[in-house]
Amino acid sequence: MKPTTAPKTYRVKSFGCQMNVYDGERMADMLDKRGIVPAPEGEEADLVVLNTCHIREKAAEKVYSDIGRLTKAGRKVGKEPLIAVAGCVAQAEGEEIMARSPAVSMVVGPQAYHRLPDMLDKAIQGERATDTDMPAIAKFAALPERTKRFPTAFLTVQEGCDKFCTYCVVPYTRGAEISRPFADLVKEAHRLAERGAREITLLGQNVNAWSGVDAKGDSCGLDGLIRELAKIPELQRIRYTTSHPNDFEKGLVRCHAEVEKLMPYLHLPVQSGSDRVLKAMNRSHTADSYLRLLEDMRAARPDIALSGDFIVGFPGETDAEFEETLALVDEVKYAQAFSFKYSPRPGTPAATMDGQVAKEVMDERLQRLQAALNRDQLAFNEGSVGKTCQVLVERKGKLPGQWLGKTPWLQSAWFEGDVAIGDLVEVELVDSGPNSLEARLAQ
Ligand code: SAH
Ligand code: SF4
Ligand code: F3S
Repeated sequence: MKPTTAPKTYRVKSFGCQMNVYDGERMADMLDKRGIVPAPEGEEADLVVLNTCHIREKAAEKVYSDIGRLTKAGRKVGKEPLIAVAGCVAQAEGEEIMARSPAVSMVVGPQAYHRLPDMLDKAIQGERATDTDMPAIAKFAALPERTKRFPTAFLTVQEGCDKFCTYCVVPYTRGAEISRPFADLVKEAHRLAERGAREITLLGQNVNAWSGVDAKGDSCGLDGLIRELAKIPELQRIRYTTSHPNDFEKGLVRCHAEVEKLMPYLHLPVQSGSDRVLKAMNRSHTADSYLRLLEDMRAARPDIALSGDFIVGFPGETDAEFEETLALVDEVKYAQAFSFKYSPRPGTPAATMDGQVAKEVMDERLQRLQAALNRDQLAFNEGSVGKTCQVLVERKGKLPGQWLGKTPWLQSAWFEGDVAIGDLVEVELVDSGPNSLEARLAQ
């Protein structure tokens, strides 16, 4: 590659889960620190970071088409951008990307992105670099302090996965489970709160697998961390995601009953309602053990909103097994949920299993599942009408004078009034739709 001038503007495009978004924010922090500024909306950036996700199909194709589009747009304005491919596709297919796309000068995995500034120096000199090492903890220590102001913030506390569900790429792209140290997390949370965060969502691929040693030197789990963060006065709300049924401890259930700042919302993926399918997925929980967990949770916090993830059409899934998923949905009555067609991922055991399910069958199952989930989501929202609750004001709405925020149950609510972003205001929920609620400021 030819040497080039140092970039003045950047754009980070994140395509994946909340942790991918968090990583994107941290890469932006590093670029800000170097004096590179975000490219104005609608303008081509000098440096583009494609922060990719590998969880379902077509991830890699999407990266190649983005690269093509960026180089073409760059040629039009007489300067091709520097392109960095980051995230989970970079980890899984970094070498292929380098070989296939000469326009890419940096490939950096999710555990190595703290080295992006060094790679950028090299790229400016005309050298291409790939870094897909996995020194997860080193990354956090090397990142600059957080500086952006937002009413809500993500905080990665745990990373990686040792569960090896047979369909999933995450253990390969994110590496083994690690927990960031207690003291570092308390410090980062204080910093976020000082910078205006009123709500923090603790992130982890298996966030409830987090463990550490508290300030007194005692070992503690996620519940201990939550109780400590709840002491930060400016911080009003705490959430966490994503939990795994097998790492759920009683302490965390108790937290939901005792810690007021912990919001009544739980995202707990189950994937399937069939024990045979769960076993083939290597989930190591049953439909029944999952349901019992939710019962404990509802006993601790009766108003808790439940959410889950589902996969339809896992290899070998029969009609009757799919019906078991529908039955589980009917029993739980989720407030919200995410459902996907099974997507064979290269290198995972399920990709080569017998009994791959036809696309049309998956389409039909997904439609039926989503109809059931939508019905329950609407019912949950309708059941909220008439309630008085607090909403955290996150941004302006579409119409003048309109504001958008979230209820404790993570529903979007819109309302009018004299408020500011970051305010926690009391509202009455007055009307509901499938995706949002109308609210009125309480007098
Ligand atoms: N660590 C979390 C979520 C990981 S990925 C957990 O275990 O719950 C988010 C969701 O993507 C998963 O819960 C699953 O429902 C879905 N998913 C993962 N791999 C998939 C695949 N190969 N095909 C379809 N959906 C998949
Ligand atoms: Fe993937 Fe399973 Fe790990 Fe979740 S628990 S990240 S689905 S392997
Ligand atoms: Fe995607 Fe990686 Fe997250 S594969 S879902 S960005 S952990």
